[in-house]
Amino acid sequence: MSTGVVAFTGFTLRCPQPEQAVDFCAALGVDASLENGTVVARFGPDASHGIRFEPAMHKRLSRISFSCRPDDISEFGGEAQDFSTNPAKLLIDPDGLEIEIVAVSGCQAPSGGDPVLLPHAPLHSRMPEARPLCLSHIAIFVTDLERSLAFYRDQLGLILSDRCGDGLAFLHAPHGSGHHVLALAKSGATGLHHYAMEMGTIDAIELRAGQTAAAGYSEGWGFGRHVLGSNFFHYIRDPWDSHAELTAGLDFIPAGTPWTAGNHEPEDSMYLWGPPPPHDFLRNPEHEPPIPMAAAG
Ligand SMILES: [Fe+2]
Repeated sequence: MSTGVVAFTGFTLRCPQPEQAVDFCAALGVDASLENGTVVARFGPDASHGIRFEPAMHKRLSRISFSCRPDDISEFGGEAQDFSTNPAKLLIDPDGLEIEIVAVSGCQAPSGGDPVLLPHAPLHSRMPEARPLCLSHIAIFVTDLERSLAFYRDQLGLILSDRCGDGLAFLHAPHGSGHHVLALAKSGATGLHHYAMEMGTIDAIELRAGQTAAAGYSEGWGFGRHVLGSNFFHYIRDPWDSHAELTAGLDFIPAGTPWTAGNHEPEDSMYLWGPPPPHDFLRNPEHEPPIPMAAAG
C-alpha cells in the first residue's frame, strides 16, 4: 500500500477482575475510571491514547487501535465502522485479533507533552511525580511470524525495522515513528507481552518505577537499555501477568528514511545493559503455564 497508519493509540484487554486496573493505573500515574464494569485509562493532555480493560473469564488481548490520516482511511481494507464520530475501519489479523484504524486530523507520532527534566536533583521530599506521557508501542505474540509480518505490512503499511531470526520482529510506521510501534514474537498462541508508555526521560522512568513499587507493583525487569530501538526500559508486571514498560529514548525513524532491516542473534540484541531478565520474561501468559523457578534453572 502507498500509505500506512501513523501511531499506536490503544488496545483492549479482556481480563478477570478488570477493576484491578484502577489501582494498577493509579500506581503508574495514569488516569483511569470504572465505567459499567470496564476500566478505561486515558493518556496525554488530549486523552487521545487509551486502554480498555473489559471483564472476561479469561485474559485475552482483543483489539489494538492505530490512528491514520483522514485522507488515507479509504486505502485501508476491513469493515467501515459507524460507532465513532471519526471514520474508522476494523480488520482482523491472522490470529483473530481486531485491528482498529481511526482517522484523526493532524495525527502524528506521539510525543505526549512535557517530561520530567531534572538538571539538578531536588531534595528527596520534593521528588516530582512522573506520569506517562502517551503510549509508545505494543508487543504481541503471534502464531506465524511471516504471516503476521505480511499482514501488518500489506494491510497497515508498517515497515520491518529489525528482526531476530524467526522469533521476533519490530515494525515502524511510514510517516515517521519510533523504531517500533509494534513488536511481534512467535508463540504457540496469540497473546499480549507488553505495552510501553513514553516517559520522556530516564529520571521519569525511575521516579515512576519507584513510585509504582511503593504502591505494591515491584515485579518486572529493569532498569536497563535495549539494543534494537536503543530505548531505556523498566518493565512492571501487571495483575494479568503481562508487563507495562516505562520507556524513553526510543530511536526515531523519520518519514522516507531508507531503511535496511537487520537480522540479529537474540542473545546479542535483547539488551545492552541492566540486570538479567526474569526467568519467565518471554513466556506467553495467555498460552503457557507459569514456569517453576527450579525448572527455569
Ligand atoms: Fe517494548
